[in-house]
Amino acid sequence: MNKLRMAGIVGTGCCLPDRIMTNQELEKLVDTNDEWIRSRSGICERRVSDENTATSDLATVAAQRALENAGLKPEDIDLIMVATVTPDMAFPSTACIVQKNIGAINAAAFDLEAACSGFLYGLTIADSFIKTGAYKNVLVIGAETLTKIADYTDRNTCVLFGDGAGAAVVSEVSEEYGILSTYIGADGRGGHLLTQPAGGSRIPASVESVENRLHYIKMDGSEVFKFAVRIMGEAAEKALEKCGLNKEAIDYLIPHQANIRIIESAVKRLKISNEKVYINVDKYGNMSAASVAIALDEANRNGNLKDGDIVVLVGFGGGLTWGSAVLKWRKI
Ligand code: ACO
Repeated sequence: MNKLRMAGIVGTGCCLPDRIMTNQELEKLVDTNDEWIRSRSGICERRVSDENTATSDLATVAAQRALENAGLKPEDIDLIMVATVTPDMAFPSTACIVQKNIGAINAAAFDLEAACSGFLYGLTIADSFIKTGAYKNVLVIGAETLTKIADYTDRNTCVLFGDGAGAAVVSEVSEEYGILSTYIGADGRGGHLLTQPAGGSRIPASVESVENRLHYIKMDGSEVFKFAVRIMGEAAEKALEKCGLNKEAIDYLIPHQANIRIIESAVKRLKISNEKVYINVDKYGNMSAASVAIALDEANRNGNLKDGDIVVLVGFGGGLTWGSAVLKWRKI
């Protein structure tokens, strides 16, 4: 059998809508207040796409920036995956729309749905395709316009979500750097905790489904919170174990940005100092599949990640799903 190749991240990019929605603005829409939102979630503001912007528009710009960062042309890409729960439409896939927009004429394209863990699921698939030699360059995008499915009459959910897209080019790299391990998992028994009930084959769109607000996000916040607190640390440890490292080896942690308290509990369990953790939940809220991808791009461009750093990415989300990855970083 041929030796497995090594895959690594060679370029990152992101795109955020310009419009900022503050907590004060939300105070005018629902019975909430800045103090509650900050203290319970750590969120101060989030980005909101306008009515002419769909998920593929943000994903396209993020993809172009990642390609530029990698020094690759669109024709070099073999596969595009868009992780999203807010595709432009059920079909064609958002990935096919991005493929057309960027002119990646040689790429296969598909969407993948693993909610907030989607980018980590995508990285895992990219890693496998490259390891086997099937593909050389894979574009993994996490992109969401969650404000389009957030219910601005429901204070339990609408304060938490924002819009954005992040992308990473995963390519074959030399053996000293790259993706050391990935770990993904799911527990469908908790699926009911986070749903968008209507618009699929179970409850097709109807006047009744719209009147009952079934096209919006429904969430049992406290149950998801308990799951998240447990799984963030567990998933990170599992990926480290898979590549023979322990938590002391972590140089940098890039967690899913759902709630600062969830991040803090993972940091405590992993016993790492706060300077080693990337946080932007205060600026953007929860952008589901886009959160880890955007945080990774910011950490890359801000110079937080040094050559040779052991970087751990970890996320959780609807499904229920979770995912983690350990990277040995090569400065881009
Ligand atoms: N403003 C003011 N009060 C509020 C608000 C609000 N925006 N939202 C809820 N409340 C109230 C509730 O009505 C409730 O009041 P009650 O006790 O009188 O019934 C109370 O606050 C709930 O408070 P807590 O239980 O203390 O809330 P908690 O600490 O659980 O925080 C939160 C709520 C922020 C939603 C938290 O549970 C959480 O972050 N959960 C995880 C969410 C998540 O990570 N989702 C990720 C996946 S998203 C995806 O996959 C698309």
